[in-house]
Amino acid sequence: MKPVRVALLGCGVVGTEVVRLLETQAHDLEARVGAPVELAGIAVRRPERVREGVPADLLTTDAMGLVTRDDVDIVVEVIGGIEPARSLILGALKTGKSVVSANKALLAEDGETLFAAAREFGVDLYYEASVAGAIPLLRPLRESLVGDRIHRVLGIVNGTTNYILDQMDTHGAGFTDALEEAQALGYAEADPTADVEAFDAAAKAAILAQLSFHTPVTAADVHREGITEVTAADVAGAKAMDCVVKILAICEQIEDRGVSVRVYPAMIPRTHPLASVRGAYNAVFVEAESAGSLMFYGAGAGGAPTASAVLGDIVAVARNKVNGTSGPVETTYAALPILPMGET
Ligand code: HSE
Repeated sequence: MKPVRVALLGCGVVGTEVVRLLETQAHDLEARVGAPVELAGIAVRRPERVREGVPADLLTTDAMGLVTRDDVDIVVEVIGGIEPARSLILGALKTGKSVVSANKALLAEDGETLFAAAREFGVDLYYEASVAGAIPLLRPLRESLVGDRIHRVLGIVNGTTNYILDQMDTHGAGFTDALEEAQALGYAEADPTADVEAFDAAAKAAILAQLSFHTPVTAADVHREGITEVTAADVAGAKAMDCVVKILAICEQIEDRGVSVRVYPAMIPRTHPLASVRGAYNAVFVEAESAGSLMFYGAGAGGAPTASAVLGDIVAVARNKVNGTSGPVETTYAALPILPMGET
């Protein structure tokens, strides 16, 4: 059987793990896909950087050249950010490649353009790794629950801030000390703004709202409050009331009026299941009319969990390539009104 050829864009923590898994699990992946899955090339900015286990002969700095090559079937984007990721993904879709992306910022800002291109060129766009790391959440929303009516999605979608708030709660740590610890453990970036100011959670909430309400919500529509103002005294006060402070993402349809999406630190009773989500874990409730309340829980960040989600998408997309089909496409935007920020 003709191999399915994969181009990888970006080779940081997640990309390196994807390369390792493609290599070490090649036999299993071939059996699952029905054809060998091969790496065609890896586009990086700094080829001279040492990357353990990454074949140097596959590295290139010409990302667009790689994406549009005839022998590439699937493009996997783990660069992040808006550009050049958007141009590269569009370049891939327009030349008939299916795309797997972990890019929450891009999908939250301009998902519609990407979905339209995937639709137009009859290829797949999968992005499970963009929200909640290893937790299968987008596929259930896109496929299993697509016949249901979702009322609300609510949960913890940022591991770094959950870790910080957990440290403040458990050890009485101040925000700065807890952040330093999160950085030392590699959860938070050297520049932790996206996490602590909740840009990361807002992008994830926008994606969850897009899929839940079939409405083009962007990160700019999300009411966003981070945790930089949460003090040790706030956390201790919550504790005295048998509550815990968690940063929550809430996406809901408010009657027939529209969609409200917000991310902010909230006090929740210790008896609530979300209160027991510790460390860098994520947990999300989906409340649907017929399905009732579903809880998704697991590792929301980190190289291996995120790579697991990327590999799952690669297999799904590769199977579709082999079978000459394509997966779910975002087609019918119900386009509910998006309520003014913070209005509920
Ligand atoms: N910085 C993110 C988090 C990584 O802490 O959840 C996963 O998106």
